[in-house]
Amino acid sequence: MKFSHYLLMLSIFTLTACKTTQTAIVEVKPKLDITQMQGGMWVPSELEGMNEMEMQYLGSKLSATDIYDTDNPSLKDAIVQFNGGCTAEIISDKGLILTNHHCGFGAIQSHSSVENDYLANGFWSKDLASELKNPGMVVTFIVSMDNVTDLVMANTDGLKGGELEKMMQKNRETIIKNRQLDPFQEVKVKAFSKGNIFYLIVSEDYKDIRLVGAPPSSIGKFGADTDNWMWPRHSGDFSLFRIYADKNNNPAEYSEDNVPYKPKHFLPISLDGVETGDFTLVFGFPGRTDEYLPAIAIDQIVNKLNPDKIAIREASLAIMDKYMRQDDEIKIQYASKFARIANYWKKWIGESQGLTKSNAVEKKRSLEKEFQQLVTEKGLTDYTDILSSFDALYNEYGEVAQVRDYWIEVVYRNVELLNLTFQLYQLEQTLARKGKADFLQHRDGLVTKLEGFYKNYNADVDKEIFAKLMYMYDAKYATTKISEESRVKQWQKRAHEVYTNSKLTNYDSLKSILTGDAEVVLKELNADPAYKIGKEFSNKFFTEINPKYYAVKEKLDVVQKKYIKALQEVFPSKKYFPDANSTLRITYGQVKGYAPKDGMQYLPVSNIDGIIEKYVPGDYEFDVSQKLQDLYASKEYGSYADNGKLPVNFIGTNHTTGGNSGSPVLDAYGNLIGLNFDRVWEGTMSDYNYDATICRNIMVDARYILFIIDKYAGATHLIDEMKLVHPKN
Ligand code: ARG
Ligand code: GLU
Repeated sequence: MKFSHYLLMLSIFTLTACKTTQTAIVEVKPKLDITQMQGGMWVPSELEGMNEMEMQYLGSKLSATDIYDTDNPSLKDAIVQFNGGCTAEIISDKGLILTNHHCGFGAIQSHSSVENDYLANGFWSKDLASELKNPGMVVTFIVSMDNVTDLVMANTDGLKGGELEKMMQKNRETIIKNRQLDPFQEVKVKAFSKGNIFYLIVSEDYKDIRLVGAPPSSIGKFGADTDNWMWPRHSGDFSLFRIYADKNNNPAEYSEDNVPYKPKHFLPISLDGVETGDFTLVFGFPGRTDEYLPAIAIDQIVNKLNPDKIAIREASLAIMDKYMRQDDEIKIQYASKFARIANYWKKWIGESQGLTKSNAVEKKRSLEKEFQQLVTEKGLTDYTDILSSFDALYNEYGEVAQVRDYWIEVVYRNVELLNLTFQLYQLEQTLARKGKADFLQHRDGLVTKLEGFYKNYNADVDKEIFAKLMYMYDAKYATTKISEESRVKQWQKRAHEVYTNSKLTNYDSLKSILTGDAEVVLKELNADPAYKIGKEFSNKFFTEINPKYYAVKEKLDVVQKKYIKALQEVFPSKKYFPDANSTLRITYGQVKGYAPKDGMQYLPVSNIDGIIEKYVPGDYEFDVSQKLQDLYASKEYGSYADNGKLPVNFIGTNHTTGGNSGSPVLDAYGNLIGLNFDRVWEGTMSDYNYDATICRNIMVDARYILFIIDKYAGATHLIDEMKLVHPKN
């Protein structure tokens, strides 16, 4: 990457700043645009230079090797990917890890029963022996990340298409073969920057992970969906687990003989708290961003793709909500489904608002105009057609992506019966593709898995969602011209027929359909009215919708890859980070409020007063336990208070996304000051267009976590295990 301009600018500054006093920094500061130094998700093995300097300018005292080092312990040794999706970090020398409550939710739920409802009441292990095992759970350490782009691209000059792919594949295999590994290590070559860069990543999975502690949901999920993606926030979204290893400290399957993992590094926790302008570093595994899309793609997201997805989910949520309010059993059955559907529904609304408000499309358009001019001026003929190719391809893409989204939202995500038919369709495919033995194994697996599905299934709710969403699908894509009213009626009638006659709406009749030989099972299945509709949909998806989608998507990917390369050549002084791809990254910024609307300014820190202000007795989102109320009344905050108040959450300019949940927030010295768990609404557009003026991540203040463990739960033995520090004194 070429950062020459930018580096030059920064290095002049850094020489002055590092070698002189604070006063010199103040003098130099105004010349630099601090917003330019925030945003981006950087590869930890390549921080030397620009990132290191930017961080130091923002207040960090860390060197690149403090953060990532393969020869000595470094901060990266305390960070793990938690169960494939979230992030967690080690906070004691006995392998204690911290992540979000919403990341540990499934595990906490799996240990809960009516008698021991850990979701409602919380769970705190008394000692090592009372920690709870979680079969199937893994945490992943990153041993090393090496840029191997040159090796992947070796001997590819002049090659194109399939030939090029073949050579790159061969190179990747050689790189992997040549890497020496310990027996429990894994290695892969992963594409970054849409295939412009490659890293060799070595990792280690630990598989004996035990639940140590979780606050009740009234703390861990305080504010639930109403507060989700919003500031001000007051959630104690954390849970504690522990990594166990064999006697040699190596990964091992669960065993009573396993012992707490001894980390290379663990994070001390700062008791000094945060204030506006403090440096923050978030270290974790962001899932996916698309920061270099052209204007036309953003325009499509805002005006074509998001509106449909939002409308479908809105319809489905309204129906669930109606039933949940009427019936307590349905409320429990649908709570987690509702939260899942509502999460991205709300995110997309905020994303569209943020993209609109920040004029993302216009900004990209003006950048593209300049790009095209410079391409012409510099005679970069290879890049001349990029933008016109985007225009042509996105025109095609818009239509197919919209249909595909519709299919995914209706069939796969919102109508449960159709989702079930999709799973059964895959079962039918197993017979065709892999034969009888695999079919039977797949069938048995499904029968076991679906028991849980039916526990939380209500056919009346689902029938109404089916009628509504099928009507919407039909109204959008059908060629038959009938009145709105008749179309609505038609689907209500159809829904009634399907849900009355299908055997897939309850577990016993499903099991009876699935009993017997493959032929018998499939014959019965294919006679079922719900399966018939589902199968038609799935066939259409796989033979028509998906192939059309990928035909355009593959062409777009080629242009996108070239565009990212071209941008770096045409605008060499701008900063480029490879889009998030679920690999380990750092991002940095500062504690900072923001102005969500004209005439309105948000403070960066919330405290326990806000919990009491939001308290609604008995409410499923805003109830506050008596214990917390008592602690509030007695102001028993110990050393966790800040000027007499107990801090709860704070926001900053860190560029995060899904997957950064549970990521540690570190101070200038690498101490833990917070736990990432969300973003502010307007700022969720940062997946496409990070803007330091409105993008904020939301974190739990480390002191609130300690307060809950210590004063609320009385789990002082866990506090004793940690290392609490006062870096500001
Ligand atoms: N918005 C946060 C994150 O994506 C938290 C999600 C969990 N909370 C919820 N109310 N659904 O994903
Ligand atoms: N809650 C998100 C997660 O589960 C993090 C929030 C975000 O998307 O930034 O990863």
